[in-house]
Amino acid sequence: MARSRQSILLAFAVGAMAAVLLASPAAAKSYNITKILAAHPEFSKFNAMLSKTRLASDINRRQTITVLALDNSAMAALDHYTLPTVRHILSLHVLVDYYGNKKLKQLSRGATASASMFQSTGTASGMSGYVNITSHKGGKVEFVSQDADDTVKPSRYVKSIKEIPYDISVLEIASVLSSSEAEAPVPPPAPVDLIELLSKKHCKSFAGLISGNADVFRTLNDTKDNGLTLFCPVDAAVAAFMPKYKNLTTKAKTAILLYHGVPDYFSLQLLKSNNGMVSTLATTSEVKKDYSYDVQNDDEKVTLVTKVVTSTVTATVGDSEPLAVYAVSKFLKPKELFKVAQAPTPAPSKKGKKEAGDDDDSSDDEDSDDATTDKGDAAPAVYGRWATAAATAGAVLALLMA
Ligand SMILES: *[C@@H]1O[C@H](CO)[C@@H](O)[C@H](O)[C@H]1NC(C)=O
Ligand SMILES: *[C@@H]1O[C@H](CO)[C@@H](O)[C@H](O)[C@H]1NC(C)=O
Ligand SMILES: *[C@@H]1O[C@H](CO)[C@@H](O)[C@H](O)[C@H]1NC(C)=O
Ligand SMILES: *[C@@H]1O[C@H](CO)[C@@H](O)[C@H](O)[C@H]1NC(C)=O
Repeated sequence: MARSRQSILLAFAVGAMAAVLLASPAAAKSYNITKILAAHPEFSKFNAMLSKTRLASDINRRQTITVLALDNSAMAALDHYTLPTVRHILSLHVLVDYYGNKKLKQLSRGATASASMFQSTGTASGMSGYVNITSHKGGKVEFVSQDADDTVKPSRYVKSIKEIPYDISVLEIASVLSSSEAEAPVPPPAPVDLIELLSKKHCKSFAGLISGNADVFRTLNDTKDNGLTLFCPVDAAVAAFMPKYKNLTTKAKTAILLYHGVPDYFSLQLLKSNNGMVSTLATTSEVKKDYSYDVQNDDEKVTLVTKVVTSTVTATVGDSEPLAVYAVSKFLKPKELFKVAQAPTPAPSKKGKKEAGDDDDSSDDEDSDDATTDKGDAAPAVYGRWATAAATAGAVLALLMA
């Protein structure tokens, strides 16, 4: 009796700990689909397409996910589709639930339906973003898109490639899941004139800086159709920063403008629900994470924390996947070019309080005057959250075991 009560408590404590860890935003960064598949050259085409369609970063941001991978010969069936259509088709191959080898073979009543990323991104209508999974006698498992007609042959489960319970499972299936909706031609994105868009609202001065720098303009313009989030400082912020900007070398001017662009598409919803470091167009090394910053959210408020300055997202200038442009309250200053603010980093739970009184200009006192270089570690913010989550879980465990 006592024993079983204890094991129930233990189970509860472990569950509580799992819940805390799952709730931790940093946990979303715990795997990298590109890296997982890189160990399997027979999936190189599939892997390359996940990156090209930006699905790889969507997958890495998620938790509890199953990727249905296709080998290089099965991928040939996608050769004649345009990239946006391939994105739709492959997003049908990403199930937003966890199916490991064992779970597949033990489906209750032998069948289930799972939503895919094609469904969860709102691209699909009706039931077309769902995938039926059927487990037959003898261990044979088949996948078929729920909107497929009778002529479509289901795709056979081949093997498990990698399982990290219950974060990500990567399974091989024999052929592309067919869905008329996913295969439908995707109209090309409406052409966007970046300078015109920025000039229309909030960011006229920043538009001027960009159009005056050919390298920066070309980089932004080339990135905008393939996933770009641009944070443009409002006119008052540019005006306040101008004396310092003029003092920068040509190279540093280019770097600081590119620093405002993140080569990935983030809807406002994504910004509000994902904390973590982002690389920018000025980043030269993914490993060193130079020219990066921490995207933080506190309910509705999204801040960009560079360690030199904390800038707040104040408005959406434009949001049409794959391009998002947000106005921010302050010019972003990288620690690679400016002195790191001395103020101690506020505890994660209190974040946002400090800047609460900030207004839209950039006459920031936290920013020390000189364009001297300094180091500063990018990682602690993330590890700090982990440590907090782990400590909370530990406390729950201790309490229940007492
Ligand atoms: C994921 O792994 C690939 C290959 O190892 C690497 O190039 C890429 O930078 C990694 N992505 C992230 C977000 O760490
Ligand atoms: C998928 O499963 C649903 C519910 O069991 C069923 O109505 C539908 O016909 C199935 N679709 C296919 C293509 O097998
Ligand atoms: C910007 O990119 C578009 C394609 O999105 C292209 O048509 C246009 O010529 C580019 N503009 C310049 C000035 O290079
Ligand atoms: C510009 O640089 C000069 C020389 O390093 C320095 O004395 C001056 O304070 C700087 N001005 C601003 C606004 O940072």
